[in-house]
Amino acid sequence: MEEVIKIKGNKLLKGAVDISGSKNLCVALLPAALLAQDIVTIHNIPPISDVYNLIDILEVLNARVIYKDDVLIIDSSNIKYSDLTIETMHKLRASYYFYSVMLGLFKKLKTYGIGGCRLGSRPIDLHLKAFEILGVIINSNDDTYEFDGAKMHKARIVFEKSSVGATINTLLLATQIKGKTIIENAAQEPEITELIKYLKQMGADIYQSESTIVIDGGKKMHGTEFTNIPDRIEAGTYALIGAAVGDKLKIRNIVIEHIQSLLDIFDVLEVNYRIEKNNLIVSKSKIKKGIVILTSPYPGFPTDLQQPLTTFLSVNKGTSVIIESIYDNRFAHIKELNRMGANIQTTNMNIIIHGVEELNGTVVSGKDLRGAASLVLAGLMAKGETIVSGLEYINRGYENMIKKLKKLHAKIELSLLNIEENEDEK
Ligand code: EPU
Repeated sequence: MEEVIKIKGNKLLKGAVDISGSKNLCVALLPAALLAQDIVTIHNIPPISDVYNLIDILEVLNARVIYKDDVLIIDSSNIKYSDLTIETMHKLRASYYFYSVMLGLFKKLKTYGIGGCRLGSRPIDLHLKAFEILGVIINSNDDTYEFDGAKMHKARIVFEKSSVGATINTLLLATQIKGKTIIENAAQEPEITELIKYLKQMGADIYQSESTIVIDGGKKMHGTEFTNIPDRIEAGTYALIGAAVGDKLKIRNIVIEHIQSLLDIFDVLEVNYRIEKNNLIVSKSKIKKGIVILTSPYPGFPTDLQQPLTTFLSVNKGTSVIIESIYDNRFAHIKELNRMGANIQTTNMNIIIHGVEELNGTVVSGKDLRGAASLVLAGLMAKGETIVSGLEYINRGYENMIKKLKKLHAKIELSLLNIEENEDEK
């Protein structure tokens, strides 16, 4: 038996939804807190499974963690070295931020590799290359890395590709290496800018100008108090839910600028929305034309919203194309959408969405975080009943999605499904 999400769709949603703290920022804030070797208090931390896994790793390293409501207090005054050859490292991708933090603090680390959603090939070669340029000696076999940082030194690193993770890992390590390290072609996502703000509050000396980051490392760091930003991908997901099935759906506590690329698309598609300070109010809008979109690094349209946007564009009068330029296989949702009556093809990195009149409920299977969320959106749009599996993926990145949707009057609930029955139907 598997816990699944049961949705009776085609119902207007109304009311207000509060957006939680950013997943992709907080997964860096937690490991980075160790650099203070002091008390760090972080507000607006969402209770998602990635956070609980990171807390487990912090505790292995002898940090004391208190997590109450959305406030996380990490006391790392008595942090101790430990190998990270533990299963938890496999449970999320961002566990690799412990690589740089541990190397910075202890000049060595033996660790397992990482986990994360399967979206095609997701190498960490850029991280490892940057570590090597900073003087780290890396030995790896199978799934274990041994990092030796005894001879680390400042350096200039020019990334051949914009990478959020590699930028953060290099930045974190550089704060612990004496002298000026320069990162060029650094990622510019809001999560990076906020992480820099946090590290500066902790005593680091960092300067960021567009895609260049200069770190004058080796400064003594200390505790701080910081507030996580709202999650721009959760905000965008609910904005698309509003555009598909909203009746003046209010999305509260967001940074409008962070979802500007989505609002630009809304403007082209004539989606009915308005902005009120930090809130976005969106209503169901009939989409009568196609659009061509390229996913790209910030401030471009984020790959993390490609899947919900694909669902949204599937009911439309026109044909749309989304070019997925970041991941080579973030397409697992498409087969499932087609089983609901959508008409979507993929060729190489292109998703070609021929709009249909409506989607029809059936049993579908979520295979990754945003893909599973995009199937929930499909279920909300569809006629009849949709059953979505993959709840464990949703819980990795969306705080209480079912509860939040229920509050918006969605007919949605958790239910138990016999998996074999589910497989037979496919
Ligand atoms: N890449 C490499 N080598 C590397 C690192 C990245 O080739 O060493 C490639 C990736 O395969 C991809 C591109 O560079 O084609 C960009 O990847 P990036 O490193 O920016 O992604 P990431 O840091 O692994 C973060 C988010 C992802 C989000 C991307 C892009 C976290 C924990 N994850 O991943 O979030 O898709 O940036 O914005 O911050 C999600 O939230 O659903 C999610 C997958």
